[in-house]
Amino acid sequence: MQKVAVITGAASGIGRGLAERFVAEGMKIVIADVEEKPLARLEADLRAKGATVLVVKTDVSNADAVENLAEQTLDTFGAVHILCNNAGVVCSRPIWEHTLADWEWVLGVNLWGVIHGVRSFVPRMLAQGDRCHIVNTASILGLVGGSGEGIYKVSKHGVVVLSETLADELAQKEANIQVHVLCPGWVRTGILDSARNRPDALQNPKVEAPPRQETIGGSRNVRAEMEAGMPPAEVAEHVYNAIQTGTFYIHTHPEHKAWIRERMERILE
Ligand SMILES: NC(=O)c1ccc[n+]([C@@H]2O[C@H](COP(=O)([O-])OP(=O)(O)OC[C@H]3O[C@@H](n4cnc5c(N)ncnc54)[C@H](O)[C@@H]3O)[C@@H](O)[C@H]2O)c1
Repeated sequence: MQKVAVITGAASGIGRGLAERFVAEGMKIVIADVEEKPLARLEADLRAKGATVLVVKTDVSNADAVENLAEQTLDTFGAVHILCNNAGVVCSRPIWEHTLADWEWVLGVNLWGVIHGVRSFVPRMLAQGDRCHIVNTASILGLVGGSGEGIYKVSKHGVVVLSETLADELAQKEANIQVHVLCPGWVRTGILDSARNRPDALQNPKVEAPPRQETIGGSRNVRAEMEAGMPPAEVAEHVYNAIQTGTFYIHTHPEHKAWIRERMERILE
């Protein structure tokens, strides 16, 4: 049977890499995003490779939209086997300077998006009974502390602990669903231009200084770090392998494990 994979934030970066990887395995694919033009381009590219594709424009911060994504997936393909809760945005400035709109936007996409995905898809996967996988995209910043990217880190720590809880509770229930949490370092994507998708209702007043995404922490050239990052296709390969091997924590950048160890040691001390 052809497997069905659903990917949020599919139009760009890691999401696009995942879609291409799963299509290469012969899966049917559901691509969800807010950005219509790149989503249509991806649809055309995947169809040109012979893929069966369903496009569902979805704002993951909206519970009804994610419920609609689940409904349309099941109505069209009759099953779902892989869900990648991947959509994400970033907005950086000192944590006390963030506006309420910053908090609502970033937590809405990064954390509530995953919450909605879990609420809408897990009951359907349980009812279906087939082997399923949920891949939640967190970040290495979901595993460490320190300065910079405050809201983002809050959201990604939430995604990590949500995934850990989900995995344990599904295992206790002996459910046929495996959970994975993706924790990459820098990946070469469009994430630093996240503001392109910020909804009008959550814009900051014009008088405010723009978020300092280029030089977070004062001196780091974040854009240069991003340009030197891992290609999305390589991240997708890690995810595909983790699904095959049943790996929960997906570390794409093992060199960052020292940061996790250092944080854990500080906590224990
Ligand atoms: N790029 C990195 O270095 C990096 C590192 C660690 C984790 N991540 C995470 O990877 C995930 C994918 O990001 P990326 O780096 O590929 O960036 P990207 O900007 O290339 O892709 C993110 C996608 O999410 C979509 N999106 C934004 N708001 C949305 C919403 N409300 N509903 C649905 N879709 C929405 C965007 O349109 C875009 O297509 C994010 O969760 C991000 O936090 C990225």
